Amino acid sequence: MDKIVIKGGQALHGEVQASGAKNAALPILASALLADGTSTYRNVPALADVATMLKVLRTMGCDAERDSETTDVCRVGVNGHITPEAPYDLVKTMRASVLVLGPLVARFGRARVSMPGGCAIGARPIDQHLKGLKALGADIHLTEGYVEATAKQLKGGTVNFDVITVTGTENVMMAAVLAQGRTLMENCAREPEVEELAKVLNKMGARIEGAGTSSITIEGVDGLKPVEHAILPDRIEAGTLLVAAAISGGDVLVRRVVPEHMDALVEKLREAGCTITTEGSGLRCKAPQRLDAVNITTTEHPGFPTDMQAQLMALMSVSQGTSVISENIFENRFMHVPELHRLGADITIQGPTAVVKGVKGLSGAPVMATDLRASASLILAGLRAEGRTDVSRVYHLDRGYERLERKLSALGADIRREKA
Ligand code: EPU
Repeated sequence: MDKIVIKGGQALHGEVQASGAKNAALPILASALLADGTSTYRNVPALADVATMLKVLRTMGCDAERDSETTDVCRVGVNGHITPEAPYDLVKTMRASVLVLGPLVARFGRARVSMPGGCAIGARPIDQHLKGLKALGADIHLTEGYVEATAKQLKGGTVNFDVITVTGTENVMMAAVLAQGRTLMENCAREPEVEELAKVLNKMGARIEGAGTSSITIEGVDGLKPVEHAILPDRIEAGTLLVAAAISGGDVLVRRVVPEHMDALVEKLREAGCTITTEGSGLRCKAPQRLDAVNITTTEHPGFPTDMQAQLMALMSVSQGTSVISENIFENRFMHVPELHRLGADITIQGPTAVVKGVKGLSGAPVMATDLRASASLILAGLRAEGRTDVSRVYHLDRGYERLERKLSALGADIRREKA
């Protein structure tokens, strides 16, 4: 098992490019199931989660591969018999596997997908995905740990989500594109990745309007065709790189981003004292040695993203003053806090809120990653800490960041991957 070893204290300088967005790539790869033929995707990040989604698709009988280890091109071919089933062994390693549910039932009339259990950051039920599919006429049964959904032909309907859910919105949207008639979805997630999926589905021949707002309308069509598409940049990876610049007191240009997808983070970084400028499709972060404390409340897009909470907490742990960080999306997303304590951070948790008293400096120590964004937060803290920080359980990091240590090293960080 690999670990990341960091010697802190280098201010980061230079330019770096964001990779394609994990949370757009996953539903988009699943959407290939909706058409016969081969879809081609570019700018697909080389991540463990993407490899898992390709494996889920292969298990069903698709030809789903990356062209080669060094390319960002993936192809998914649906050219023969499909077994519409996602087994427990794969779903338990990546809950986003559940994104095949909507396309399978819409296209093949049947889906058998293992129920994802809870995960490190929360219980994460899928009741809203199921509610949406039922509203389109699917019969849903839960047996032996699997969701079985069947429908001869889905019919358009009205879906009013009780909870705003990103993958729930995506799953139901993928089902509704092949339903007969019109579907109205209300209280939808407005994340850019939902909008991106709708863009891809429309390129395939779907008729979706309103994606990116809370009301989405879909006119069902009889069939879709395969597509070629380049995945949009990863706003969370890009944000993590901006915070790396900020925590190290550096000056970094993150190229190939969509600046308007990152407004909530940029606003907080500016409030903390960073100078953020837009340079074409890049964002530059120039930071002083020490930042001011700012308060953060995570909410759905366009609010401050929960996927940046752990990274901002690392930054706030060395700010001047006290920062109050409230996590409103997941009930257990503070697993990085005890590890940040090991580096000398002063953080108290009170229910869904963390109170972070900025300290002058952190000191390096061995720490353990507990989930994807927690890993990123520990690496960021390690960049600032005096001495050596070893972050173990790096497989969490590899689920969602493409060669993060190489990108940071190219910016001047003293960081390397080692066999633990
Ligand atoms: N929820 C329900 N019922 C449902 C669905 C969700 O109660 O049927 C609750 C969840 O328990 C949670 C809240 O609604 O409290 C929001 O969850 P959501 O469904 O939006 O999360 P998700 O779709 O499972 C995606 C991202 C996550 C990101 C969240 C929130 C993908 C593949 N994953 O998860 O990404 O944190 O939205 O923005 O898109 C990450 O990349 O590190 C990551 C965890």
